[in-house]
Amino acid sequence: MIEVKTLPAERWREARELRLHALKTDPIAFGASYEEEENLAEAEWQRRMKSALFALSDDKPVGTITYLFSDRVKGKHVARIFGVYVDPNYRGRGLGKKLLENALELIQENKGIVKVQLMVNQEQYVAVELYKSMGFVVVGQMKKEIKVGERFYDELIMEKML
Ligand SMILES: CC(C)(COP(=O)(O)OP(=O)(O)OC[C@H]1O[C@@H](n2cnc3c(N)ncnc32)[C@H](O)[C@@H]1OP(=O)(O)O)[C@@H](O)C(=O)NCCC(=O)NCCS
Repeated sequence: MIEVKTLPAERWREARELRLHALKTDPIAFGASYEEEENLAEAEWQRRMKSALFALSDDKPVGTITYLFSDRVKGKHVARIFGVYVDPNYRGRGLGKKLLENALELIQENKGIVKVQLMVNQEQYVAVELYKSMGFVVVGQMKKEIKVGERFYDELIMEKML
């Protein structure tokens, strides 16, 4: 059975395992590298979990999404989404869409939010399609924004107005 929910702080090891797995299976999809994150402290994993949702298959985390609100006076109407990931063994079954739907629902509970923004490697075609299907549009492109190995990748900025 698949469910989408938050995880309590004491399950931080599972959140860490999924994230490090993501950085290994899809290094070009994320701005952070495995090496940067493998030694993060327990408190940092727990801090991150507060803004994350997880897709659980028989209670095992197999997908995740993070959403954040800004506390800046001039930017607190913008929510941001990042760290979207579904374990390759569970892809193509609607989990990514479910994670995004759940995150958008929670974001919309914050009545001051007028738009949701995210960045995505333009070569992550499935992710780009997923975001488009959920109403996100490309509003910009950052050339050579990330470098993995010897290759540069452009990132798209995508936004959804609420
Ligand atoms: C992007 C990702 C989260 C999608 O997860 P998923 O569970 O496989 O996605 P879903 O099954 O919910 O599919 C949702 C939509 O994505 C698109 N999609 C899914 N699989 C696809 C494929 N093989 N080809 C093209 N589009 C596809 C479709 O629009 C689909 O909607 P539809 O089924 O109504 O047509 C997953 O592929 C992933 O983790 N990729 C690597 C990490 C990544 O790129 N993260 C984004 C960081 S910004």
